[in-house]
Amino acid sequence: MIALTVNGSVRQLDADPNMPLLWALRDLLDLTGTKYGCGIAVCGACTVHVDGVATRACVTPLSVVEGKTVVTIEGLDPNGQHPVQRAWVEAQVPQCGYCQCGQIMQAAALLKDTPKPSDADIDAAMANNICRCGTYERIRAAIHRAAELA
Ligand code: FES
Ligand code: FES
Repeated sequence: MIALTVNGSVRQLDADPNMPLLWALRDLLDLTGTKYGCGIAVCGACTVHVDGVATRACVTPLSVVEGKTVVTIEGLDPNGQHPVQRAWVEAQVPQCGYCQCGQIMQAAALLKDTPKPSDADIDAAMANNICRCGTYERIRAAIHRAAELA
């Protein structure tokens, strides 16, 4: 058994320690907000927080998160009212939406560490979160707005 805290609840998983966290979240815990994009840590679609740090769930085995605290898009705010989520709605950021849970989790981690980020801060933090729809300008604007809302 592997124990970890997911979105505030302790979960015991009867799973291979080498199973990627992404599979455990989606297939064992039915938390499907976290998306599979590339599987090799280059797109950011699977970004979650592990002990508060933005982490690529596709390349993070369960053995690494044992005893740690994981937050997914479903747990970022119980009512979906995290400042980043509010700003995302206000700015109508998503197009197809596939990348956006990862974008939001990456942005939330940025704002936790850097409450008033510059454009350069945002570009550096978000550079490895790919959006095939090209919503980057709205993402940047929404992060600035989230900083105001927070
Ligand atoms: S699916 Fe994890 S970074 Fe692309
Ligand atoms: S909104 Fe479509 S991939 Fe980002």
